[in-house]
This record gives sequence, structure tokens and C-alpha cells, in this order.
Amino acid sequence: MIIAIDGPAASGKGTLARRLARHFGLNHLDTGLLYRAVGQRLRAAGLDPADEAAAVRMAETLDPTGLDPEALSGSAVGEAASVVAAIPAVRAALLDLQRRFAHTPPGAVLDGRDIGTVVCPDAEVKLFVTASAETRARRRHVDDLRIDPATAFETVLADIQKRDDRDSSREVAPLAAAEDAAVLDTTDLDAEGAFRAAVALVEEAM
Ligand code: C5P
Repeated sequence: MIIAIDGPAASGKGTLARRLARHFGLNHLDTGLLYRAVGQRLRAAGLDPADEAAAVRMAETLDPTGLDPEALSGSAVGEAASVVAAIPAVRAALLDLQRRFAHTPPGAVLDGRDIGTVVCPDAEVKLFVTASAETRARRRHVDDLRIDPATAFETVLADIQKRDDRDSSREVAPLAAAEDAAVLDTTDLDAEGAFRAAVALVEEAM
């Protein structure tokens, strides 16, 4: 059983993926962490995330075990991630690892941007989780305020729109709903409502 969850930044797909994995007893992989880890390693080495050769090297030697979501959170790392994610050879280097994870028993929930379209086109369930940019920025802003109480809403909104644009317009594996994905718009749903709607969609497909 593979559940593919895609969607834009701060759509709530990560929280949803984690809860679905727990509920259905499946493994969970937040694939954004892989791109974030590559972006983070480049930044730590003082290298430009757009440096293709360096980014590919980082992707090829990435140890996917024990990535720390906390250490990889934050918009600067997210921004670097979306730059490296537009490099086709970086995506290729991370593909096998994601597929192996997906096909390891008892199955998995993977969340990202291209799971239903590229990584696991054969997934039993595909969800595309989305919400208006303002709603997503409002949710992200609440989180960011805990780290920096001076964070401006407008900055968060601009960051999200910039990342959406880059993720949707890149040539390889752009952010897009698979043709056979169920679209879950969480603009007017809280986390609990989104979870219940998703469980119903998964049970329908089982
Ligand atoms: O989901 P998250 O914000 O952690 O992802 C960071 C960046 O990684 C995204 O903006 C996107 O550019 C990239 N990404 C991707 N494909 C995935 C997951 C993430 O291109 N499957």
C-alpha cells in the first residue's frame, strides 16, 4: 500500500501524511527533507545551491537516515531546497532512494511535490493537498512567530508565492496534481477535518 501526498508549501500535507501513516500503520517519508538536506549541506559548506556539480555530489552522498526535521526547518533552507530541486540530476540522484522506501513493507505514505506524478505513479491512493496562498502563509506565520516574533506576514506570504512559482514552473517534475489524484482543499478545514476527509478517501480506495 502506497499513499502519495503532494501539494504546495505549508498546505498541511506533512502533518496529514504523518497522521495517515500512524493511522494505517505505514512508514512515512517527508521527501522535502531530502531536498532540504542537500540545500543545507551546500549552505554549510559555503556553496551556492545553484552550483549543479556540488548539488549533485551532495545528493549522491546523502545519508537519508536520521534527517532532523527541526534542524532543516526554516525558510532559508526551504528556499535553498527549491533551488536544488530544480536541478534534474539532483532529482535523479534522489529517486531510487524514495522508490525503495515506498516499496518497503508494509508500505508507506510519502509527501512532496512529485510523488503521485513521478516517484510513485503506481500509488494506490494519491492526494493533492492545497489551500489558498493567504491561508498557507497565515499558518506558516504562526509557526515562524515562535522562532522570530518580528516575522512579518507579508514576508512569509512573499516567500510562499516565490517558492510556489519556482516549484510549479520548473521543467522537471513540477508541482502538479496527478490526473488521478483526489484534490483536498484545506482552506476551510482544520487539521482534524483534513485528516478525516483523507481517511475517507483512503478507505474508499482500499
Ligand atoms: O515540502 P518542503 O517545503 O519541505 O520542500 C522543500 C522544497 O523541496 C520544495 O519547495 C520543493 O522545491 C522541493 N521538493 C521537491 N519535490 C519533493 C519534495 C520537495 O521538489 N518531492
